[in-house]
Amino acid sequence: MCGIVGVLGNHHVAPLLVEALKRLEYRGYDSAGIATVNEGRLDRRRAVGKLVNLSDLLVHEPLTGRSGIGHTRWATHGAATVANAHPHRAGNVAVVHNGIIENYRDLRAELTSAGYSFESETDTETVALLMRHELAQGRTPAEATARILPRLHGAFALCFLFEGEDDLIICARKGSPLAIGHGDGEMFVGSDAIALAPMTDRITYLEEGDWAVITRKGAEIFDSEGRHANRAMTRIQIDATRIEKAGFKHFMAKEIAEQPVVLADALRHYLRDGGLNLPAEVDFNGVDRLTLVACGTAHYACHVAKYWFESLAGLPCDIDIASEFRYRAPPLSERGWAVFVSQSGETADTLAALRYAQDKVARTLAVVNVTTSSIARECDVTLPIMAGVEVGVASTKAFTCQLTVLLALALKAAQDRGRLTEAQLSAHLADLRLLPGLMNAVLTLAPEIEALAEELAKAQDVLFLGRGAMYPLALEGALKLKEISYIHAEGYASGELKHGPIALIDASVPVLVLAPRDALFEKTVSNMQEVMARHGRVLLLSDQPGVAEAGAECWRCLTLPQVPDLLAPILYAVPAQLLAYHTAIAKGTDVDQPRNLAKSVTVE
Ligand code: AGP
Repeated sequence: MCGIVGVLGNHHVAPLLVEALKRLEYRGYDSAGIATVNEGRLDRRRAVGKLVNLSDLLVHEPLTGRSGIGHTRWATHGAATVANAHPHRAGNVAVVHNGIIENYRDLRAELTSAGYSFESETDTETVALLMRHELAQGRTPAEATARILPRLHGAFALCFLFEGEDDLIICARKGSPLAIGHGDGEMFVGSDAIALAPMTDRITYLEEGDWAVITRKGAEIFDSEGRHANRAMTRIQIDATRIEKAGFKHFMAKEIAEQPVVLADALRHYLRDGGLNLPAEVDFNGVDRLTLVACGTAHYACHVAKYWFESLAGLPCDIDIASEFRYRAPPLSERGWAVFVSQSGETADTLAALRYAQDKVARTLAVVNVTTSSIARECDVTLPIMAGVEVGVASTKAFTCQLTVLLALALKAAQDRGRLTEAQLSAHLADLRLLPGLMNAVLTLAPEIEALAEELAKAQDVLFLGRGAMYPLALEGALKLKEISYIHAEGYASGELKHGPIALIDASVPVLVLAPRDALFEKTVSNMQEVMARHGRVLLLSDQPGVAEAGAECWRCLTLPQVPDLLAPILYAVPAQLLAYHTAIAKGTDVDQPRNLAKSVTVE
């Protein structure tokens, strides 16, 4: 998604703006730019591609000025060109934007008929021209802002800079997050705290519909009705925003390797004194139904959890991808809970799904990594996944931490509903405590997995198969592979193979089977034999008993540590992540910022 920064500084701000944009690179982008006001004069520099291109431009054409705004653009309207890069300028105003203005065509037509012309294909330029038009009527920047914001439909985080105004930034948020940073005689604005961390740890998060008039003296915040709004200033944990590779080649490699540690953090948080440690509100008595809603990898975590809630707690559990849920108007139970799972806590579809559900269920829960995010702030209960900052676009440690928290929830549901004795609960918790060590053992298989990846990298198409709770793992493994190596990969329930996908099988298609030697293993072996009978190449990921029983005829095998069935989906995520990572390396793709993808999808 796009990244926004703004600085009212005591020194020239261009280097600071670029540095802050670097800390937003993880969100994914395809162009960048900054604008400054220097002794009243507004000017800008923009470049396509990576930030280094903007830095190079600034070396040759420096920008001075102690107030400025900056932007990394993830293209929504119009290709990645300089003309479409932000900041957009219209006369005496410049603007940067994260989101989508859904009624921009109508606004564009109105502005065109008013005699304005456009230099870009973007929706954002209409905002710059609307502001210019209001200023031209003699209105102040604040008056003009109050007039244009209600006319913008869709989602936006905006930051404006004005010719002649050395000590003014105006910003607004509706749907896309925006934070204000408080310095000493300086003020800042950013898409998130990560961008602002090097400059300040004092942060005010704008609420939905808020806008703010910022000078070096501070921020005057207004709500969507134009009333003064008091928003709390919080102090962020600077080290929690640390985003270094710490010697790894990629953030994704670092985050895969961090899983034993962050999982141990999550377990320490949710398992205490031999039992579960969840907020008092997490009492499942009287809850008759669960609805788990998310997108992408987070949705696959919900899919795994469905098996746990139903098998452990006997609790009916619906799962849905947020982009469908929010428009399907699903009936929800007044005695039900809705759980929203999101690493960023800012995914637009998941946030919209939450807003659909929140007055229709008894309680909403957020299972998130960013506890200051919009989804966290709008849910009744927030359960942090404790994964630490996840920078790689491909979600890895967040996924296994989401699963860990969801399993703790499922065990609590089983306990509250009298479906687990204390002894059974203790046994499950003891198994959970084994996970970090088991993960460390899997990480030692990286060289073997790297060799397998070299072979996978030659494939055009790859299938992933799994049964039971390993079926969502097959979906997640396919997503990991396709999103960073660009190889077409699909996940299927093993039992579905003969209902169509088996037509895809031939010697060129590797079929990865995720199958610990569990109660469904024999069924899966039959599917493997169907594949091999058609010259398909089976890569079996199993444990020693499974490989001993069915590995001989397979193209390749990977032997994983034995793990209690309940925990297999969490452990088997690691080899799937490593396979995707090493295949992408072999393909030479941009592992941390794969093409077309963004870390947090804050637009529909
Ligand atoms: C997963 O590797 C992708 N980055 C993507 O599917 C992601 O899980 C999805 O966009 C949801 O993001 P969230 O967890 O921040 O809501």
